[in-house]
Amino acid sequence: MTKIVRPYVIAITGASAQPVAERAIQLLLDNNQNVALILSKGAYEVWNSEMSLQVPVDMTLQEKFWRSRLKVKTGQLKCFKWNNHAASIASGSYKTKGMIIIPCTMGTVGRLASGYSLDLIERTADVHLKENRPLIIAPRETPFNLIHLKNMTTLSTAGVTIFPLIPAWYTKPNSINDIIDFLVIRLFDLLGEDLGNINRWGEK
Ligand SMILES: Cc1cc2nc3c(=O)[nH]c(=O)nc-3n(C[C@H](O)[C@H](O)[C@H](O)COP(=O)(O)O)c2cc1C
Repeated sequence: MTKIVRPYVIAITGASAQPVAERAIQLLLDNNQNVALILSKGAYEVWNSEMSLQVPVDMTLQEKFWRSRLKVKTGQLKCFKWNNHAASIASGSYKTKGMIIIPCTMGTVGRLASGYSLDLIERTADVHLKENRPLIIAPRETPFNLIHLKNMTTLSTAGVTIFPLIPAWYTKPNSINDIIDFLVIRLFDLLGEDLGNINRWGEK
């Protein structure tokens, strides 16, 4: 039997940090990882409004789109449509290395906190929680209102790691790319993956 390389599920929702999401996909594939990718319906709109890009909704075309845009031939990439409830990753019996929602909207935070599993992102996150697998969300909103904070507390209590997209300045970033790499590489530190080099405190 062929050994399946377990994927990281990367979910991109419609918050304002799409370049961070695409760098996460790129670094995972560069590091020969398997990525199962879901964009929420809202994420397609944000790609269009903020990045002036139409991400293909056809999944085969989308896989080609990311490979060409990110200039990466290694790793495995499978894209899933937001309403594909029959997807492998929607079942607890399909094993993964964990799930990262990056960026994570306050809408998705609210739906996860209330157990509302309508789209594939919500269902897969719910599955990760019930299977006690790593689930990390990278919220992007400012300021937070009380409902956001309460929802994030609920998720944290349920075992979700909250990784807000807040940069560090002690790294003395020279560019936005330095800031993005710091965020993505620090996030994957939490999963035991070493995706690249960043300026770490105490290291030269
Ligand atoms: C250009 C643009 C930027 C947005 N940025 C954010 C954001 O940073 N954080 C957020 O919570 N919602 C943001 N939204 C709103 C969400 O996209 C919207 O609430 C959407 O319904 C969320 O659906 P989703 O969680 O399924 O992606 C933004 C919307 C647009 C059009």
